Amino acid sequence: MNLILLGAPGAGKGTQGKSLSEKYRIPQISTGDILRANVRSKTQLGQKAKEYMDKGALVPNEIVVHMVVGRIQEEDARNGFILDGFPRTIAQAEALDATLKSMNKKIDAVIGIEVDRKELTRRLSGRRVCRKCGASYHVIFNPPVNIGMCNACGSEIYQRDDDKEETIEARLKVYEDETLPLAEYYSSKGLYRAIDGKGPVDQITESIVGAIEGSHNS
Ligand code: AP5
Ligand code: MG
Repeated sequence: MNLILLGAPGAGKGTQGKSLSEKYRIPQISTGDILRANVRSKTQLGQKAKEYMDKGALVPNEIVVHMVVGRIQEEDARNGFILDGFPRTIAQAEALDATLKSMNKKIDAVIGIEVDRKELTRRLSGRRVCRKCGASYHVIFNPPVNIGMCNACGSEIYQRDDDKEETIEARLKVYEDETLPLAEYYSSKGLYRAIDGKGPVDQITESIVGAIEGSHNS
């Protein structure tokens, strides 16, 4: 099963993607995570991407498209994948369509996780992430058991550079201008399923699973 998780910064793509990846045993492919790993290891790609990410802007299409095209052809994605944070523009969606077509594959469902702006800002400004395993926490909604330490692996948790207030605003604006049109793009293909992204994490996962299984049987 090939899934896309669409949603604004802070909507819960990372959080939900992780549960769905465990449930369906298919990899979660987060372009943001791949880019951050490149920034951390100071690759050429990472150094270039960081300039854009720190401003809350999108990294150029050719960089991310190349990354994703390579990733979805890896062995572990043979039975399916969950795209988190890609596509983010119509051009990226078209590039994905062309790649999948050449592989004789298709997208099964596009889940749009919908959350209002006020809640998004609240989530992003309080988010903390594990440096090692990427687990996501929130200082108020989902604090780690030990301050500053990941529950899962015990490593340090930190605030993402782009979770500063000014950058959050820029990211939300870019989302509205560039990514929101994808809801219409995938609706017109009959693939878009809107999910209310507010409420307990598990409840949202259940709604997503319901929407996926509904799409699958239809
Ligand atoms: P990326 O890493 O994809 O960031 P994003 O889209 O801004 O999304 P986030 O990761 O911030 O949010 P999320 O939806 O994953 O939410 P999460 O589950 O963490 O991209 C970063 C940058 O990389 C971009 O700005 C761009 O520069 C570049 N980039 C990436 N992809 C690109 C592409 N395709 N093209 C070009 N550039 C690209 O949850 C957020 C917080 O809320 C957490 O603290 C979590 O614990 C909490 N939370 C989650 N669910 C709930 C809930 N139900 N109730 C309460 N709190 C919750
Ligand atoms: Mg994320």
